[in-house]
Amino acid sequence: MNKKQNKIDYLDKTGKKAKAISMFEKVFDHTLNYLNKKENYLVSLSIVRSPEMRKLNREFKGNDKPTDVLTFPYECEIEEGAPFIDLGSIILCLDVCQKDAKEYNLPIDKELAFLFIHGLLHAFGYDHHKSKKDEEIMFKLQNEILNTLPIDFYTDIKILKKKLKEAQSNAYVPYSKFKVGAVVVTKDGKYHTGFNIENSAYTVCCCAERVALFRTYAEGYHKEDIVSLGCITSSNQVGTPCGVCRQAMSELMDLNCPVYIFNNDMDKKLFTTVKGLLPYCFTSEDLNAR
Ligand code: THU
Repeated sequence: MNKKQNKIDYLDKTGKKAKAISMFEKVFDHTLNYLNKKENYLVSLSIVRSPEMRKLNREFKGNDKPTDVLTFPYECEIEEGAPFIDLGSIILCLDVCQKDAKEYNLPIDKELAFLFIHGLLHAFGYDHHKSKKDEEIMFKLQNEILNTLPIDFYTDIKILKKKLKEAQSNAYVPYSKFKVGAVVVTKDGKYHTGFNIENSAYTVCCCAERVALFRTYAEGYHKEDIVSLGCITSSNQVGTPCGVCRQAMSELMDLNCPVYIFNNDMDKKLFTTVKGLLPYCFTSEDLNAR
């Protein structure tokens, strides 16, 4: 059986090679999966600058100003046996996206992904203009899709690696000599470091991951501020977090948060998620079960 394949006809008209298509492909596939769409879909996606968007908005919507996104759903009859279902065209305006991303304090890629999802929902017939109820349905769905995207818009892997090495070098490990470094990344672009801290009473020892996480919480951050966690051990192989740290992570981080794990030389890595490390974790809901 052929693997399901969706296609984006991508046109970057900004003259800046604004964005690679690969990010949009991930957003497209994820959105279709989320909406439980089983067929192969095609969408045209263009990124334009302000003057062109203003012209389109004036011509087709009667608004003489640039806007962030315009959607033109496919309106012709779908041909039988066509390899793709055509969803129509989505146009994004880079300049408006950049301005809004700055205003909402979001990475530009996240803003572009958000608007692409918005356009796709319109193409599937969702409409926030019709009624308050329709608006609620569409906006809730669009946020759910955005928040479950398997894309980390925030973590700079180069900075993360540097911070992990720094953290690891400070580990307090007089007994095991096994140095572990951990870093929690927050949406404000901060990298919070931790390392394992041992004790002559061995059970008091605390792992690097929990030190970094507890430190982040102690600084006033919460689950919704955290975007990822990285860790490194002094082993030649990739050493994954212990069960206790996984349990702590499962409560203090979103289950979809990425986790980046490196071996000592950083030539081996495992990129996973909190849920990937601890499926079926014990949660506060289990406390109430009878
Ligand atoms: N360690 C961590 O810091 N994180 C883990 O997930 C596994 C183990 C530390 C604890 C102890 O200081 C040393 O590694 C050996 O177990």
